[in-house]
Amino acid sequence: MGSPILKQVALPVTRFDAELEALITDMDDTMRALSGAGIAAPQIGVSLRIVIFELRENPRYPHVAPVPYTVLVNPVLTPLGAEEDQGWEGCLSVPGLRGLVPRFHRLRYQGVDQHGVAIDRTVEGFHARVVQHEVDHLDGILFPQRVRDMRNFGFEDALMGQMTPMPD
Ligand code: NI
Repeated sequence: MGSPILKQVALPVTRFDAELEALITDMDDTMRALSGAGIAAPQIGVSLRIVIFELRENPRYPHVAPVPYTVLVNPVLTPLGAEEDQGWEGCLSVPGLRGLVPRFHRLRYQGVDQHGVAIDRTVEGFHARVVQHEVDHLDGILFPQRVRDMRNFGFEDALMGQMTPMPD
């Protein structure tokens, strides 16, 4: 947080080549090493519109449904309805902090995978939340900017018992 690249609007991907594959491998490695549920290319220093996310069955988050491993390039989000959920978010770029963030409950997302194959899904709940969080990274937005009441933002340790943690 604070790094200029995390405040920029990232550029669309135009070439689906070995360089893109290598970048996605780096993103995968970083996400897994930090036990994240998602990562965006600007978080590893590349200002391109690429996000990755996945949530396997995890006993730490019994209330969260699994999300399939997805590489999403040049994403377009369309909220479906005005319904919002409040959820506690963290971020690999904002270590140790958590905040209560409103997100659209349901949305459609479109884009392509690393091979240029179309992706078009309608999702809700945590799956919708992780996509909104990651795509915000491509527009220079970090989750603390989405917290509406700053009393609901703080150190994870201090918030223990006050929140239901979501995966980072
Ligand atoms: Ni993040």
